[in-house]
Amino acid sequence: MARLPDSFLDNLRMSNDIVSVMSTYVNIKRTGRDYVCACPFHSEKTPSCHIYSETQSFYCFGCGAGGDVITFIRLIERLEYMESVRFLAQRAGLAMPDDEISDDGANFRTRLLEMNREAARYFRDMLLSPQGKTGLDYLLERGLTPNTIRKYGLGYAPEGWHNLHYHLRSKGFTDDEMEAGALVTRNNNSLYDKFRNRVMFPIIDRRKNVIAFGGRALEKDAKAKYLNSDETAVFHKRENLFSLNFAKNTEEKCFILCEGYMDVIALNQAGFDNAVATLGTAITPQQANLMKRYTDEVVISYDSDEAGQKATVKAINLLGEAGVLARVLHIPEAKDPDEYIKKFGAESFRHILSKTETAIDYEFGKLQKGIDLSTPAGKTAFLQKAVAFLAELRSDTERTVYISEAARLSGQQISAITSLVKDKAAKNRFYRQREEEKKLIRGDTKRDPINPDSLRYPAEEKAERGIIAFLFHSPDRLKDVETKLKEEDFPTEFNRRLYGFVKKRIKSGETVDISSAGSEFTAEEMGRITGICKQGDMLPYSLPRLDEYINVLIKFRDKARQKPVSEMTDEEMLAHIEEIKKKRQN
Ligand code: UTP
Ligand code: MN
Repeated sequence: MARLPDSFLDNLRMSNDIVSVMSTYVNIKRTGRDYVCACPFHSEKTPSCHIYSETQSFYCFGCGAGGDVITFIRLIERLEYMESVRFLAQRAGLAMPDDEISDDGANFRTRLLEMNREAARYFRDMLLSPQGKTGLDYLLERGLTPNTIRKYGLGYAPEGWHNLHYHLRSKGFTDDEMEAGALVTRNNNSLYDKFRNRVMFPIIDRRKNVIAFGGRALEKDAKAKYLNSDETAVFHKRENLFSLNFAKNTEEKCFILCEGYMDVIALNQAGFDNAVATLGTAITPQQANLMKRYTDEVVISYDSDEAGQKATVKAINLLGEAGVLARVLHIPEAKDPDEYIKKFGAESFRHILSKTETAIDYEFGKLQKGIDLSTPAGKTAFLQKAVAFLAELRSDTERTVYISEAARLSGQQISAITSLVKDKAAKNRFYRQREEEKKLIRGDTKRDPINPDSLRYPAEEKAERGIIAFLFHSPDRLKDVETKLKEEDFPTEFNRRLYGFVKKRIKSGETVDISSAGSEFTAEEMGRITGICKQGDMLPYSLPRLDEYINVLIKFRDKARQKPVSEMTDEEMLAHIEEIKKKRQN
């Protein structure tokens, strides 16, 4: 890979302040001079991801992710190193230093986004034209105000086969681009508009790009009520949420997760800017994690039909796994939030929102489904299910609350249920422990995927890190290290490679900082390197300490060199004795 000049990278980082870049993805709070946020790369309740304005770096003390702003983009946008550089260059309006290494993929994506924006503009203009009257009437009829229609950039795709097609051509977009952007459909050799006679909902991502469309049919008997863009180079429906561009800035403490576009828009109009919806699919783990970046609590507000309730269970599980507290909203006397607000108003919706159940209420309620609690057999069946459920609850207070509820429903003593639950929990623990032990025996226990050798040589690995951290701080001390240690004397593979890198940079008179490592190490390895640097920031650095570290590695080397006496040749034996003598004299 061609190397980018340091001066360009410096400029790139200067124009993309890490604090402002990260704050478009996560909720950042100031602590003293620096910032913290809940780490977007693992699930956590208390924020342990630190952002250092001064060194323009971040580091998560929870999962070890870290690096500079480029590393952050690599991880969060899942882009390659070069793609991330280009992404940030574009963000800051910088030209890439060399057009030869500019990548067609990024240009292509930019082109699709421009085309989508043009299409959104076209649909919007159509909605307000005589042709769009049916569309506009429909939206107004559904109770949307002109303001809401504008806020969401809603539009209308006219009847006919080539409206958007020819419009985009006139704006210089090619048929291939339109096909790649899923705005037209190919049938044999002819192309035609994918969206016809539909009200259009642009799907806008967190960076305010128009990435796709949803279109609602106006005819009653249309094949699909809602038609969504196919996946394209800029649209991954499993990784986006409708209206997240608004919800991410909400002041409310929770998100409201809905099924449909219209629910979200109706909620927004009623003052709930924290509503989001998935994009024509069931919720995915990526979407759950995405919400977790902005909020700790999600109220699931799906339709009250059977499909909606099934989807609710799935959402509870995925949100739980992402570390989000899930609550479930029961919407009385309406099929969805949109209909409820129309019937009973926003205030009433806020009221039912405040009385949502926690996910546990919901699960507990389900245990009674299909059981007749007025019969002894029903009570026993319920009790069995309840005990299994309660044994798995992690919080003691919750367990206490639900044990008393189970007692009430089954007509048993609280103390009896408590001891049943305890037994069951102990049994579960026993089985789990046995599983752990089996794993231990199989050898898949604690691992260090970045530097697997660190488990074999813990003391040496620590010394290696100490030396490298020292060099990050005081590059001019390389000679102190170099005279005593060779690269091969670093016992662990990753640290050896890192030392080699640092040494090479210093020797060629280049700066050594985290960023300089970006093009030679993976985004995951960057976390480790950042950790080593941070460790350097926190320790008091002195030459005697550096010597201590160096001595650990020297000792290790000498021990490794030394054969057992029984295996030495006569010559080796004599040399060995000389060595010992010399040491005694010192
Ligand atoms: P619903 O049919 O529940 O939507 O589908 P809704 O909001 O009640 O529709 P209106 O009120 O009649 O306009 C919920 C979501 O499921 C997806 C869409 O994303 C929709 O918003 N969906 C539904 C489709 O993708 N295709 C369909 O044919 C129907
Ligand atoms: Mn609806």
